[in-house]
Amino acid sequence: MYKDTADYIQSRIAAAGLALPQAAVVLGSGLGALADHIENPLAIPYADIPNFKHSTAVGHKGNLITGTLGGRPVLAMQGRFHYYEGYTMQEVTLPVRVFARMGIKTLLVSNAAGAVNPDYRVGDLMVITDHISFMPNPLIGPNRDDFGPRFPDMTDVYSPRLRRLADEAAEGLGLALRHGVYVAGTGPAYETPAEYRMYRTIGGDACGMSTVPEVIVARHAGMEVFGMSVITNQSADLGNGTVNDGDDVVRAADAAARQMTGLFSTLIARM
Ligand code: HPA
Repeated sequence: MYKDTADYIQSRIAAAGLALPQAAVVLGSGLGALADHIENPLAIPYADIPNFKHSTAVGHKGNLITGTLGGRPVLAMQGRFHYYEGYTMQEVTLPVRVFARMGIKTLLVSNAAGAVNPDYRVGDLMVITDHISFMPNPLIGPNRDDFGPRFPDMTDVYSPRLRRLADEAAEGLGLALRHGVYVAGTGPAYETPAEYRMYRTIGGDACGMSTVPEVIVARHAGMEVFGMSVITNQSADLGNGTVNDGDDVVRAADAAARQMTGLFSTLIARM
């Protein structure tokens, strides 16, 4: 199944005379604008791709875009599949296994996230240094030995090398970055004040409803991973009267998407 999908995407890329992508980028809620900066783009609607689902989440467009970013051939998912949409973990993570089958060795993931760390502000960019997951593990079930081991190591999930390159890129661009731990829940309900407090207590800095499944499957397949959260809202327990809503999240992500685009382009150029 993964091979059929990989073959289809590769045939579309070859037919357009484009180079095989060296990195895949997953664009989170409201962060699809990065795809507008891809040069010589070819957009493949998810509906055309065998075994791909349709993304129903707000701010997710549902195209696979190939072309050049930072001078290198890349492939970007403009919209991801979330567990809260009702997809199985196998469906959520299928694209990552397809990318691995295509020979793509690097995965850059992004998401819109809530601030758990009280120092964080809306619009901040956070390099994900580690994660804590309350989601079902996508590797549950018979192991696919052709992708990776039964018990994959999770020590350096977020590549220290790529994090270093991102820090250097940010310095060159004059961008301030946060560095923190991403806590993943299933959603779709936002956290209660007590849950945000718990996330802070256990060492979280930001929280969201995605990313971890794709990252686990990518590491299982031996891909190098870089993750970035765009802070779109403060947590509900900090007493500033904010109530979370999906539209605010998408608006805040829009502004930060421009900065993230610059950072990802520079990072990809230096990879
Ligand atoms: N919680 C969970 N997911 C989110 C949040 C949040 O506060 N903001 C954006 N995605």
